[in-house]
Parts: sequence; C-alpha cells; structure tokens
Amino acid sequence: MADRTRAPLSGPAIEAAGLVKTFGGDRAVDGVDLTVQAGTVYGVLGPNGAGKTTTVKMLATLLRPDGGQARIFGHDVVREADTVRGLVSLTGQYASLDEDLTGQENLVLLGRLTGLPKRAAKERAGRMLEAFALVDAAGRQVRNYSGGMRRRLDIAASILSTPALLFLDEPTTGLDPRSRNQVWEVVRAIVELGTTVLLTTQYLDEADQLASRIAVIDKGRVIAEGTKGELKASVGAGSVHLRLRDPGQRAEAERVLALHLAAEVQLDPDPVALTARVGDADGDRGAAERASRALAELARRGITVDTFALGQPSLDEVFLALTDRRADAATASPGTKEGAAA
Ligand SMILES: Nc1ncnc2c1ncn2[C@@H]1O[C@H](COP(=O)(O)OP(=O)(O)O)[C@@H](O)[C@H]1O
Ligand SMILES: [Mg+2]
Repeated sequence: MADRTRAPLSGPAIEAAGLVKTFGGDRAVDGVDLTVQAGTVYGVLGPNGAGKTTTVKMLATLLRPDGGQARIFGHDVVREADTVRGLVSLTGQYASLDEDLTGQENLVLLGRLTGLPKRAAKERAGRMLEAFALVDAAGRQVRNYSGGMRRRLDIAASILSTPALLFLDEPTTGLDPRSRNQVWEVVRAIVELGTTVLLTTQYLDEADQLASRIAVIDKGRVIAEGTKGELKASVGAGSVHLRLRDPGQRAEAERVLALHLAAEVQLDPDPVALTARVGDADGDRGAAERASRALAELARRGITVDTFALGQPSLDEVFLALTDRRADAATASPGTKEGAAA
C-alpha cells in the first residue's frame, strides 16, 4: 500500500472561498468562506439546517461544490480529491460502525482496512478503547452501546490513523452532559496530538469550550467570524452590576465607575443599584481588570458595595444578536413591513 501523502502541516489546514451547494434550486450553502489554521479547533456554529453538514461534506470531498473553491493543506478538494482523502477523516452524526460487531472488533477491522497488520491493528484498538474509556464495553456488540459510548467509538474509529484534519459533525448532539464532557476531553486530546479539528455544533457552550475561532453560520452563509472574544465584542462586551449599602453614595460611585470603566453608567430603578457596560476594546481580561480596579477605588473612598457581578455575554446572546440584526435588516424594507402587519 502506498504511503499516505504527508502535507506540510504549516499554513492553513482549510482555505475555502465562495463555496456553494444547491439542492433543487435551494442554496443550502450560499458562498461560504473559511480559513482554518493548522493545529487549532475551529467551530462552525449554527442551527439545524444552516448548511453545516453540507459544507463539511464538500470539504471532505464527499460532495462536489457547485461554486467556489476549497483547499485542504493546499490541495484542491475537487482536482486533488484523492490526496485530500488521505489527509482527512470525518465523524458524522451517522456512525459507520457495524452494529453486530463488538467495539473491539470494529476498531480492529477498521485498522486493518487502513492498512495496519493484524497485530498492530489489535494494539491500536486496545489503546483507543482505553483512551476512550471503552475497555469494559470492548467485548459487547455495538447495538447494545449507549449513545455516548457509540459516539466515542465513532470518534475513535475516525482517528485510528491520526488524520491531519478531523471533521467532527455535531459530535455531541443528543448526548447527556456527562457523555458530552467525555467527548470534549477526547477532542482536546486529539488536538494535543497535532490533528486540526473542524467541529460543527448547535451548542454555543460547546464552541466556547473547544474552539479558538468560530464561524457563525445561518441559511448557508457565514454571518460572523472571529475569535470568541471578537464575536462577543462585536455584539457588546460584558456588564458590571453592583448594589451599594448606602443610596447616598450612588452619585459618587457613578463617577468612579465612569472614570475607571471608561463606560456609561446606568442608574437602575433600585436606588442602590448601578449597571455599567464594560468597554470591549481589550476583550474579557481587560474588562475584569478594569472592574476590579474600579472596585478597589470604591473601597478606598469608603463606598460599601453589597453585591457585585461581572457578566460576560454568552455565545447564546451573541447568536441571537447576530440573527436579530439580520432579521431587522430584512424587515427594514417597506414592502416586508406591510406584509408583516397584514
Ligand atoms: N441531499 C440533500 N438533498 C436536498 N436537500 C438537502 C440535502 N442535504 C441537505 N439539504 C438541505 O440543505 C440545507 C442544509 O442542510 P445541512 O447542511 O444538513 O444543515 P445542518 O447540517 O447545518 O443542519 C437544509 O435545508 C437541508 O434540508
Ligand atoms: Mg448537520
């Protein structure tokens, strides 16, 4: 068997420009651009039907794009599909596991299929079962596995031959929280080994936990892209909420906060409460630092703070803000408005 093609693992793992896929006139993927640096976990976040799986399938050479281009470690997904196939592995929502075989048999079989000699395939399977906490279940038929066990075995199968790029398509959809955490641990371990991961998810906390950069995708288009911090900044940074002991000190507290947070301070209806949005320029850490400096200054002036909270916007809020903004833009035309009012 020929050696697998080894691409230089520097530069981008994925470069996609203007990817399009149409199904019967509907643009499931409508001009997607993506750049994923090697060695990172990249999150593609979007609701059901957004076009995540279709995008992944084009990048993994399983679907031919109707428009645009994509390169995997510099290799074109259409013209150099065979090379690309040697570099990637795809774990889907639909496992390619044999239900009648045991977990161990499945991994050995797949190892053999990737060209490992019998002994090496067995060894490899054993190590995978251990790494994925499946040793106890190794001798059981896959049909008797729980959803979480099945998902872990599926991921184990897809990294048997350590792909340079792994696509994880909604790896935790439908899993209980404990199994989700186990899958997250596995993903972190995979990246440690040098594999680049593109992860699709409907879960904002999942992208937040695992990915360094995130593309938010909706109706076949990327509606926002960046680091988690950048995404949060684009819809506003966190807020500081505090309550004072003495309402008579609120005016002074307001001045101190405005000065130290470089932000507008809002006086809440509650006479001891204040809220300030924290500027977004320095990201989350800057916000926390400025908030603690402001608190120290309040203490120095003898202003007693009863409760204090620094809230960062969740990715949930980010997504809602981004899609709302689009909805607002769409309904801004007079024609649409009339239609909505009828
Ligand atoms: N093989 C197909 N034939 C027709 N329509 C499809 C096909 N695959 C996906 N679609 C449609 O394309 C859109 C995007 O689907 P998909 O990529 O599966 O979204 P996601 O993975 O984000 O849930 C959906 O409207 C879906 O119904
Ligand atoms: Mg999907």
